[in-house]
Amino acid sequence: MSIEHPSFGKLDDHRIIIFDTTLRDGEQSPGFSMNINEKIRMAEALAELGVDVIEAGFPIASPGDFDSVKAVAESLGQRDDTPVICGLARSGRDDILRAAEAVKAAKRKRIHSFISTSALHMKYKLRMEPEAVHQAVTDSVTLARNFSEDVEWSAEDGTRTDPDFLCRCCEAAIKAGATTINIPDTVGYALPEDMHRIFTMIRERVPGADKVVLSAHNHNDLGLAVANTLAAINAGVRQVESTINGIGERAGNASLEEAVMAIRVRNDRVPFANNVKTRNILKVSRLLATITGFDVQPNKAIVGRNAFAHEAGIHQDGVLKNAATYEIMTPESVGWTKSNLVMGKHSGRAAFRDKLRSMGYEIGDNHLNVAFRRFKEIADRKKVVYDDDIMALVDDEVMRDHERIRFVSLDVHAGSKSPQRAELELEVDGVVKRAVATGDGPIDATFKAIREIFPHEANLVLFSVGAVTEGTDAQAKTTVRLEEKGKLVDGQGADLDTIVASARAYVHALNKLTVKRLRTEPQALSA
Ligand code: KIV
Ligand code: ZN
Repeated sequence: MSIEHPSFGKLDDHRIIIFDTTLRDGEQSPGFSMNINEKIRMAEALAELGVDVIEAGFPIASPGDFDSVKAVAESLGQRDDTPVICGLARSGRDDILRAAEAVKAAKRKRIHSFISTSALHMKYKLRMEPEAVHQAVTDSVTLARNFSEDVEWSAEDGTRTDPDFLCRCCEAAIKAGATTINIPDTVGYALPEDMHRIFTMIRERVPGADKVVLSAHNHNDLGLAVANTLAAINAGVRQVESTINGIGERAGNASLEEAVMAIRVRNDRVPFANNVKTRNILKVSRLLATITGFDVQPNKAIVGRNAFAHEAGIHQDGVLKNAATYEIMTPESVGWTKSNLVMGKHSGRAAFRDKLRSMGYEIGDNHLNVAFRRFKEIADRKKVVYDDDIMALVDDEVMRDHERIRFVSLDVHAGSKSPQRAELELEVDGVVKRAVATGDGPIDATFKAIREIFPHEANLVLFSVGAVTEGTDAQAKTTVRLEEKGKLVDGQGADLDTIVASARAYVHALNKLTVKRLRTEPQALSA
């Protein structure tokens, strides 16, 4: 089997195309909205990681989505060596024209059109007869081909679709000129054996299936997204759709880092190659966590803080004698580096930069200066600055430079004598504004001051405080969840002062809300 592909030329049968949808499916998950600068930044990191296709967004969903896809196409898409830039579209004309316009500037571009094919979705969601859906497949792909040679077609809820109808729709898409056929497991229902059966069936029954790239897009509702992805590869799939840290709708998508490392570590059973530079994995994972404010859980495979930590004495002993006793891949192969540097108030800028690098953060000079200044403030007040302190401060401050609202300063009167009072300064769109408010406690006063400076209707639905490390001098890490007209956003903040950390978290959540207000999901997502 050898495929001639408009974007990749002659495809070696052992080559897997890595399609990243962090900026589209990933960004659809609650709280993960990114602004245009953050998307460009992530896209650059993904290109450096070596992914083949970046699905940069869903252009019809909102003006913000359109602008982000266009901006990625105009910046990154100008270079010959960068990934294909892809925009998602439902099957309607407006969607496809909008996606075509958004990716137009990219040298290598793709339009990705989808429609639901399962009986359930067609009847209740689309309210369309199967024949009308079948016709829409032909029409959408035909239209998309006028704007791009590289067109992907997806059968939404494909794994719950009647097999005969699925084959007919795939055939129609191929006839109309689709170059990639994607069968999403939209609701994360399939088992690995289903994957194998479905893709084997398509290869055997659909005319022209051997001339296009087959693709798998798996959701993780049963925790099987990566296992299903590997099963799909072994059934002939040559494109894998995935996201960094496995983010995505509900329980997320197949995690890119897990799929790529499974292929690499178990190449004996999944003998395929891809272009991902695995040493960049941790860096991109950290960047995403920093931008979105969501850390991965400590035991997350590959990129979790504990992924290579050995606690049990027997394990530690084994690893010291020979790391292979308990490590199936080296930490370095995915970007972890060994660092014995203990940071404190005498540590200089160079040591700080080294420390950041060893933790997977690669940040520019401006960000470094800000981070270093915050680090010095913490180091002056704490004997030892732990890795977790540094992660918290980088997450909290450094990546936030494009936000509309910025924390400047806070003075509070707290204690048992009421009223508690907050004097707050925030920078809003470049202008420093000040408010004084009283409340039932210093946090209430602080949040009221924020509301005064930046009026909004959102409700505070969750407020939590934790400690980044142990000890009374630990930084506080706070989470604020705001809700406005059904839209939820989470903000995080860290500081040695709990009330300052709370103000930072609130401001972070508000910034996310200002981005989210511009979006029209989830209606825009129902094809
Ligand atoms: O999960 C899904 O079905 C999707 C499609 C839009 C590709 O994300
Ligand atoms: Zn999806």
